[in-house]
Amino acid sequence: MDTLMNLTETENTTVKVWDWPVRVFHWTLAASVIGAFVTGESEDFERLHQTLGWVAAGLIGFRLVWGLIGTRYARFTEFVRPPKAVWAYVKSLRSDRPQHFVGHNPVGAVAVILLMGLTALSVYTGWMTLADDAAEWWEEAHEIAAHTLITLVLVHVIGVLWSSRTHGENLLKAMLTGRKTAPSETGIRRNWGVLGLAVLLAVVWFVFFDLRA
Ligand code: HEM
Ligand code: HEM
Repeated sequence: MDTLMNLTETENTTVKVWDWPVRVFHWTLAASVIGAFVTGESEDFERLHQTLGWVAAGLIGFRLVWGLIGTRYARFTEFVRPPKAVWAYVKSLRSDRPQHFVGHNPVGAVAVILLMGLTALSVYTGWMTLADDAAEWWEEAHEIAAHTLITLVLVHVIGVLWSSRTHGENLLKAMLTGRKTAPSETGIRRNWGVLGLAVLLAVVWFVFFDLRA
């Protein structure tokens, strides 16, 4: 169920919204995607480029599972909404009382799904270029996927800043601390810090051993 906030009727406090695994996922995904993008053109960084690509792939795999079994706001059932709901949110932005969500807003959620899909597509097309008998156009497809992804990342960051201003909350800080101002009963109870640490260690381990091998 969506958590639409009614700020006038409920008492607000700071609550935990993004658990540790979501935050570790987000910042390591951001680092690996940006890292893969800047190393893509150079033959010297071929190995690093591919390792960062596999890290991104592993993170997307993890997030698909966490979207099913994770905490409240991490779940797909919480933020994947029908087009009608996305449109209702857009329309509400033009009114005096824009809809406000504790988790991802419906437009942000569309961007989140596209970001994950385009990351997966970038990895797939990149991997296909490596086959012995790979057709030339896989390189083309990889380049297009990666550039579309980076364009969407820019849109995503602008959207985050814009949404922060519209709703008077610092979304960037929330993705760092996990906390937002919201009615006390809307917060998540568990943080899953140990799992977040495990994800982080797995990424570090993979980068370290893959690069040394
Ligand atoms: C395991 C995953 C990946 C593999 C195996 C891979 C592989 C490759 C290879 C072999 C090339 C050189 C292609 C050529 O000959 O021009 C390349 C280029 C490139 N890759 Fe990846 N890649 C992966 C993931 C990613 C991701 C996630 C991004 C995300 C932004 C990315 C962005 C780029 C870019 C921008 C280029 C340069 C394209 C160009 O201008 O020619 N790659 N990649
Ligand atoms: C470096 C600049 C970036 C900033 C400041 C940033 C900020 C944020 C923020 C604040 C959110 C939460 C949005 C909300 O409250 O609804 C978010 C979510 C998300 N961002 Fe970024 N982001 C950045 C880069 C990236 C990159 C490079 C990617 C790569 C694909 C990415 C993918 C995502 C995804 C998938 C989510 C959803 C997180 C989840 O539900 O697990 N972001 N980002």
